[in-house]
Amino acid sequence: MENKNIIGIIGLGYVGLPLASLARLKGFKVYGFDINASIIEKVNNNESHIEDKSLKTLLAKLKKENKKIEATDDFTKIKECDFVFICVPTPVKENHMPDLTPVKSASESIAKNMRRGQCIVLESTVYPGVTEEVMIPILEKFSNLKAGIDFDVAHCPERIDPGNKKWNVSNIPRVIGALTKDGLDKIAKVYSKIIDGEIIKLSSIKAAEAVKIIENSFRDINIAFVNELAMSFDKFGIDILEVIKGASTKPFAFMPHFPSCGVGGHCIPVDPYYLIQKAKDIGFEHKFLKLAREINNHMPDYTVKILENEMKKLKIRLRKANVGILGMTYKENIDDLRESPAFKIAHLLKKKGANVFVFEPHVKNIRGLEKEKVETLDEFLSKAQYIIVASPHKEFLQIPANKFKDAGIKIIIDGKNKLAREDFKKEGIVYRGIGHN
Ligand SMILES: NC(=O)c1ccc[n+]([C@@H]2O[C@H](COP(=O)([O-])OP(=O)(O)OC[C@H]3O[C@@H](n4cnc5c(N)ncnc54)[C@H](O)[C@@H]3O)[C@@H](O)[C@H]2O)c1
Repeated sequence: MENKNIIGIIGLGYVGLPLASLARLKGFKVYGFDINASIIEKVNNNESHIEDKSLKTLLAKLKKENKKIEATDDFTKIKECDFVFICVPTPVKENHMPDLTPVKSASESIAKNMRRGQCIVLESTVYPGVTEEVMIPILEKFSNLKAGIDFDVAHCPERIDPGNKKWNVSNIPRVIGALTKDGLDKIAKVYSKIIDGEIIKLSSIKAAEAVKIIENSFRDINIAFVNELAMSFDKFGIDILEVIKGASTKPFAFMPHFPSCGVGGHCIPVDPYYLIQKAKDIGFEHKFLKLAREINNHMPDYTVKILENEMKKLKIRLRKANVGILGMTYKENIDDLRESPAFKIAHLLKKKGANVFVFEPHVKNIRGLEKEKVETLDEFLSKAQYIIVASPHKEFLQIPANKFKDAGIKIIIDGKNKLAREDFKKEGIVYRGIGHN
């Protein structure tokens, strides 16, 4: 059944493209706006520029039903839209300051083409205050319209977890805060036509903005806690995975988190800085969040140190040694390199004089490591003698330990504690995980 409202989605990435696909499948006419010509071309062909099974399924369904998202960089089409969802990136700069350039430019592009009666929803993750203090003033300035009177505004943070088989854009519950009660009801209603997940109405936009920031900070803090425990338990000779498994038997008040060679992605290592920096501006210091960031940022160094120590035991120096990094994405079985700790590991190894090789079958271009990139697993194994597994894609987990042994691999550092530890030990390869040896 076709829905009468027209929807515009600004930014066709990990967040915008699934939402646009789902809205189109639910019968809305959908414009997808982006500034990247190759993304526009792919989306217009019902193709995904992102390697994600559930997204590809959505696009295949669209193709089958002979439906398509109209992808464009022509923002005058905004005029036709009843609801506009902003899904542009919210990165941090080198100094960890929030970079709101995409939110500001998307807001300006919308504002120049707005009309009365529209609803503008920010889905990007931001600190409390961005929607009302940054976005609305731009929308009002360039449109000459008044928020809350001529148009409605809301924040509804996206919680998608790319690669998650159970939770997807359709079934994840959503929280919404809007400028007016009327706007809140209208926007909640349109979401309920697109997604199946529960829709929770909050009392303010700021509360909705804060929800997303605390969700991701909660993860960052808990991961930092287990990373700290992993480093401590390495000294105690206690296996952190066994301890987490034990603690998880408590039927309440414990939630397992796992240590690793670092935290990556566009969200967890980024979003806490949004709160840290904004709170600092208004006179509050988030000591806890800052410490969590510091601990998690240190994990690539710790991983390289583990390798260096094991090499020392074998009387080998890291300088001039051939070290391979297996998997460069921030987590396994996806194609997203953003903020991946594997890059920091590579740069640390290079700084220490190692010859570095990287193998990442899920991504074509490994920016900054073009010379280090190898094309096949066999080439990788023939070049590296010491390996750090930074992203254990499922195909890597299927490589038998004796293949590493035959290739002359002496040490393997399991950056996500996912390898079959005993198999490597049996082959006489030195195995070290993160708090798990
Ligand atoms: N990636 C995730 O898993 C995830 C999950 C939940 C929330 N988020 C949040 O959602 C937001 C979007 O993240 P993403 O991962 O989808 O980013 P992305 O980089 O995958 O996609 C963003 C898209 O926006 C486009 N774009 C940038 N500036 C634009 C502009 N001015 N006008 C039109 N298009 C523009 C880019 O070309 C790109 O295609 C961020 O705030 C992020 O924190 C991301």
